[in-house]
Amino acid sequence: MSTAISPTAYNYKVVRQFAIMTVVWGILGMGLGVFIASQLVWPELNFDLPWTTFGRLRPLHTNLVIFAFGGCALFATSYYVVQRTCQTRLISDSLAAFTFWGWQAVIVGAILTLPMGFTTTKEYAELEWPLAILLAIVWVTYGLVFFGTIVKRKTKHIYVGNWFYGAFIVVTAMLHIVNHASLPVSFFKSYSAYSGATDAMIQWWYGHNAVGFFLTTGFLGMMYYFVPKQAERPIYSYRLSIVHFWALITLYIWAGPHHLHYTALPDWAQSLGMAMSIILLAPSWGGMINGMMTLSGAWHKLRTDPILRFLVVSLAFYGMSTFEGPMMAIKTVNSLSHYTDWTIGHVHAGALGWVAMISIGAIYHMIPKLFGRAQMHSTSLINAHFWLATIGTVLYIASMWVNGITQGLMWRAINDDGTLTYSFVEALQASHPGYIVRALGGAFFASGMLLMAYNVYRTVRASDPAEAEAAAKIAVVGAH
Ligand code: HEM
Ligand code: HEM
Repeated sequence: MSTAISPTAYNYKVVRQFAIMTVVWGILGMGLGVFIASQLVWPELNFDLPWTTFGRLRPLHTNLVIFAFGGCALFATSYYVVQRTCQTRLISDSLAAFTFWGWQAVIVGAILTLPMGFTTTKEYAELEWPLAILLAIVWVTYGLVFFGTIVKRKTKHIYVGNWFYGAFIVVTAMLHIVNHASLPVSFFKSYSAYSGATDAMIQWWYGHNAVGFFLTTGFLGMMYYFVPKQAERPIYSYRLSIVHFWALITLYIWAGPHHLHYTALPDWAQSLGMAMSIILLAPSWGGMINGMMTLSGAWHKLRTDPILRFLVVSLAFYGMSTFEGPMMAIKTVNSLSHYTDWTIGHVHAGALGWVAMISIGAIYHMIPKLFGRAQMHSTSLINAHFWLATIGTVLYIASMWVNGITQGLMWRAINDDGTLTYSFVEALQASHPGYIVRALGGAFFASGMLLMAYNVYRTVRASDPAEAEAAAKIAVVGAH
């Protein structure tokens, strides 16, 4: 049976490649997360070597989970969604293949350079200029493939999920290029074009919108396609989704200064960032409610469908982290939470609960379709994965809340004579049990990913190339 590429078929090859790499990078990035979490419990694990210290492996963890795991999930799902909702093949197979190989090259570059200590030192933008330029080229190509496909669509309408993916692609390009403006002094060292408080402001404009557009808007694109598909219900309110889109992208871009409270940044900018963050609660919850309410009349499916459970629980964590975020943006609350593990708990409520869970749900939804199977090899393994992921997330964030509030209160406690009540080491000792629970929670989450890898492997191994190709045929009626 021929598996030759037909122009009447979707390009599923690149989707398959990105989907598989999502699982691979997920295991590596989260495995490294468990390792650095263990270093905070047992410092001997730093091995007294520069390459294996927490300081070098931590940015590798963030790059692997955000850009490798999250990025591959976004590439895979956006290429899948844009083709199916536009009823057309990607505009160019070779450009799509370039985005796949280029993206993997950036990740391998990160794995090689970060442990060696090559870094711009800007959080989430650590990669030195040669890799940053490669990343920019890959990203612009991604934009060409995505928007080119939208232009040649067979449908009149552009489905709302594509609006979210589109905004994520455009804004990520803008953030990356502006924040990376720098002067290279050697092959592995460059200096930022900005200095002082301006540098900090631009970095956190980038950093916050990396959260807002990379870790949120792209994944909302995922939500708008996969939640209705898995629930077999139309999106609750199309009108709300439009309001959600414009409100979210208009507000997010202003909230960056909440990362710089009580710093040299002008006070008015801090207050503006705080106000915008509080207002951001409204569109965030509007979107979350739109996703949740899509299940109206289909709630019973949660009893039997663990994929739907992944998707719905991710929305619950999204709602939780977007309630917590605006609270932490209030200056007085931030004076307690900043520098503590509370921030780390908030990050992972979003990262594990929202980003990872919705990606996992979407990948489980796509894999059988991409490989021409009726369903995943084992539903009970998906169910086991769901519980490992949920319990892991709860252990992680609960321990970090306890640690964060303990640290904040101990650091600010003052004796009658104005001296500090606790030394830093005492606060660190008090955090030790929380670090053990966090490492355990992370191990739960990461072991769920191993179950996923096995389940995906078995599904792919049973796949029939002819059926997979037939599944990629563009349906003429009722495509998405
Ligand atoms: C098994 C799962 C994971 C474990 C055990 C884990 C563990 C950790 C640890 C120990 C840190 C350093 C905390 C510190 O400096 O005190 C960290 C930081 C971070 N992780 Fe994870 N992580 C996991 C999954 C993820 C995922 C899936 C994402 C994103 C999608 C993510 C995003 C981040 C970010 C953004 C930071 C930096 C936070 C900050 O600077 O405030 N992590 N992680
Ligand atoms: C309305 C939505 C949100 C608001 C207003 C918000 C607000 C905040 C605030 C105030 C901080 C602490 C800043 C500090 O003290 O340094 C923070 C940190 C962070 N948040 Fe959120 N958050 C929101 C949603 C999310 C979501 C959904 C995610 C993840 C998917 C996320 C990821 C992060 C990360 C990674 C950091 C740590 C940045 C760093 O210091 O390295 N946030 N957020």
